[in-house]
Amino acid sequence: MKATKLNSNRVSLQGTIQVPGDKSISHRAVMFGSVAQGTTTVENFLPGEDCLSTIACFQKLGVSIEQEGSSVTIEGVGFEGLQEPMEVLDVGNSGTTIRLLMGILAGRPFHAVFTGDESIAKRPMTRVTVPLAQMGARISGRKDGEFTPISISGGGLKGIHYPLPVASAQVKSSILLAGLQAEGTTTVVEPEKTRDHTERMIKMFGGSVSSEGNEISVQGGQKLAAARVMVPGDISSAAFFLAAGAIVPGSRIKLLNVGLNPTRTGILDALQEMGADIEVLPYETENAEPAGDIIVQTSDLKGITIEGELIPRLIDEIPIIALLATQAEGRTLIKDAAELKVKETNRIDTVVKELSKMGAEIEATEDGMVIHGKTSLRGSTVSSHGDHRIGMMLAVAALLARGEDSYLENSEAIAVSYPAFFEHLESLF
Ligand code: S3P
Repeated sequence: MKATKLNSNRVSLQGTIQVPGDKSISHRAVMFGSVAQGTTTVENFLPGEDCLSTIACFQKLGVSIEQEGSSVTIEGVGFEGLQEPMEVLDVGNSGTTIRLLMGILAGRPFHAVFTGDESIAKRPMTRVTVPLAQMGARISGRKDGEFTPISISGGGLKGIHYPLPVASAQVKSSILLAGLQAEGTTTVVEPEKTRDHTERMIKMFGGSVSSEGNEISVQGGQKLAAARVMVPGDISSAAFFLAAGAIVPGSRIKLLNVGLNPTRTGILDALQEMGADIEVLPYETENAEPAGDIIVQTSDLKGITIEGELIPRLIDEIPIIALLATQAEGRTLIKDAAELKVKETNRIDTVVKELSKMGAEIEATEDGMVIHGKTSLRGSTVSSHGDHRIGMMLAVAALLARGEDSYLENSEAIAVSYPAFFEHLESLF
């Protein structure tokens, strides 16, 4: 396996970065554009591997999609215009693609089969197949429908009232996308609020959705109309530079056009509570998804507790928060985050294992981790385990490492969400 040599022992990261488009919003823009009527254009689309998997799946469903870099044009066919695929739908590494697309295909009167990579094959799917089957879809998969390969024959759905057993935007979105095609009303009840990009996009594409507290409802039989989507930068990608700017001595980084949807900004709350010097400059322009610039400077950090409703608002940022905690005075406790075990990797295990190699004082718990800071990090050969966010976190960790050189095994995984990551990082040196 090829290992990439990482930059280490850095001081002073300086510069301005335009982080790539938001992954969650890019997926949804392609999906909504496909099931709407008319031509949808998407700007600042994320051309990462996950979102390209979504495009490839919709092409197999008969949708004409042109993508050139971060511009995408979709000739929408409506839900009814999707065609039975001749081939297996391969979602690659993308949990969002498989779970949301199952919701869409649950409503279509044809057969489709899903597969993905080694990581997808380990990720739980009954969280979506159970409610979709309750609505009337016929679904089967390996180990009683828990894992890929999964096949689905849809159509004839009825609305349900469904309390979500886990706080998951993917599950919520899957049920809402099925609900748009079902008879009657579909309601999901969230245990904690999760990212609301799907709800915002239903409205952007001319549909209606209502939210009351943690209950979200859609009426079936809705028709969606094409839209122009401007995707803001991904705060989950920005997070690696927010962390690098806060912990590498003598740094100041400006991040442009970062998405500031309040269901995603938990990382900013956590950084502020840790004492990071960050300035958020929201844009005034009206957009379905708010955005702004963020400036971060090197800061003295302190340990905090992260739990409860904050967890879904920063779930993807926990690996990089663990690194921040190694550079914060005192103890950081992360709890209520058992969902980390079923991400692209078991992120409790992979974070603890890889940061320990670099000298961090970090322990796994049942539903999170405990980190004692501040520790100096040492160079080591580490692995992404095929998980993009673990890979980027380790590349930032290496910036502080002393001693031996650091190497990252399986660094190509980073292309899942941030193909230009190393280029952007090096532009700050
Ligand atoms: C996502 C929801 C989250 C997140 C994932 C993207 C989405 O997953 O971790 O990276 O786009 O809806 P869960 O819904 O499993 O929490």
